[in-house]
Amino acid sequence: MAPWWSRAVFYQAYPRSFADSNGDGVGDLDGITDRLDYLADLGVQALWLNPVMVSPMADHGYDVSDPRDIDPLFGDLPALDRLVDAAHARGIKVTMDLVPNHVSSAHPWFVKALADPSRRDRFIFRDGVGADGSAPPNNWVSIFGGPAWTQVDDGQWYLHLFDSAQPDLNWEHPEVFDDIEKTLRFWLERGVDGFRIDVAHGMAKPPTLPDMDLSENELLRNKANDPRFDNDAVHDIHRFIRTVLDDYPDAVTVGEIWVHGNERFARYLRPDELHLGFNFQLVQADFEAEGIRAAIDNSLEAAALAGAAPTWTLSNHDVPREVSRYGDGSVGLRRARAMALVKLALPGAVFIYNGAELGLPNVELPDEVLQDPVWERSGRTERGRDGCRVPLPWKGSEPPFGFSSSSETWLPMPADWGPLTVEAQLRDPDSTLVLYRRAIKLRTGRSEFSGDTVQWLDDSTFRRPSGLVCTFNAGVAPKALPDGEVLLTSGPLADGRLPPDTAAWLV
Ligand code: GLC
Repeated sequence: MAPWWSRAVFYQAYPRSFADSNGDGVGDLDGITDRLDYLADLGVQALWLNPVMVSPMADHGYDVSDPRDIDPLFGDLPALDRLVDAAHARGIKVTMDLVPNHVSSAHPWFVKALADPSRRDRFIFRDGVGADGSAPPNNWVSIFGGPAWTQVDDGQWYLHLFDSAQPDLNWEHPEVFDDIEKTLRFWLERGVDGFRIDVAHGMAKPPTLPDMDLSENELLRNKANDPRFDNDAVHDIHRFIRTVLDDYPDAVTVGEIWVHGNERFARYLRPDELHLGFNFQLVQADFEAEGIRAAIDNSLEAAALAGAAPTWTLSNHDVPREVSRYGDGSVGLRRARAMALVKLALPGAVFIYNGAELGLPNVELPDEVLQDPVWERSGRTERGRDGCRVPLPWKGSEPPFGFSSSSETWLPMPADWGPLTVEAQLRDPDSTLVLYRRAIKLRTGRSEFSGDTVQWLDDSTFRRPSGLVCTFNAGVAPKALPDGEVLLTSGPLADGRLPPDTAAWLV
């Protein structure tokens, strides 16, 4: 039988933003536990939690100072146990984020490394270049902007591909391997069902640390021949992680993999490496038939090359929300709803970023509330990712919309989100939330959604082998529907035809 994750619908909860149980304005683990019935009613089979380990929060949890404990902002270990138990009681698996490329500069290893130059070998420290060593060891830039090297008091430099508070680990050091094994087992033994692996294409660095081509730098992208990423030695690390995971046969790993080309991507999904890999083709495609079709074919091909299940996502905590990407306002929303049906019609695992099921737009936040390190590191030229991380609106007519008992939410919530709350959407049979619920229920319950392939009937209509047909209209005029019984549409039909910016499922 196919493993549970190969066709699961995962819900990505960004813990800061999902629900706040203790009134500090920041979401937490008990907030998620309290609302598990919401996720059960949505029909998802698994949860992915962005990092909840101990962290100074320079990058909101992606800077981990203790990988085997929960940050007090989110709760404690008993709170995680409560969440896992309550999720399992509802048939929902729980996966966590694992951050192996770097740790926090507050991690005890790094604190020791700073204090004592003889204890630096678990990180990537180098002398500077130039007569007085005052220039960084190479020209690498940080993904968040600025140089990828920071100089310490005694003159040496350390590498950080992200923020300076996120020093990269030296994955040639055996203790780094031992420690990740401890971390994996720690959570798996507590009943966690797997991990989303952050920057799975990072970790290994070329021994000579050659200069990069500076024209190639782009936030969260990877071009061919970028020496910072996708070095072949990374696969030994994934094989190591897999040997640990194999002791827990039902557990899954899904890697965040930004690499150049399907062949490089597929390497990460070989039978002794990761189970699943995020493929971001659909996130990058505009709402345009040819591009969407190409993204789907490409992702299917990449997964097929490795014999792995494909994965689909329209958004996550790093990219602008789909409603805004597709044009914002009612057009953006209609397109996002259409794309929800497209993604939920596809074979493989589907990831829903919290709030996508409510059709939330990206939020234009004022400069003074921005928190993403990208903002400062880019010299305030890139606004960063806060706009897709605004807390979820649950009920009521004004901020904080039931997210928290405090009106001081960690990012301000737009005053006009009343119609977008869960409460309001549950009252409206045509809401995005109801659409998602119906779609997930059909996807999970109906036999027409089985099979691993798709056959294109035209450039915006595909068929699953067991009978589901999904068609979308990215054009400007209504189009005829294919033959069959209509199961669901993302918006009303017009005289039996499919209007622009709409999708339909038929059997
Ligand atoms: C990944 C995460 C992102 C984080 C970065 C550094 O790309 O998705 O949110 O900032 O890694 O850990």
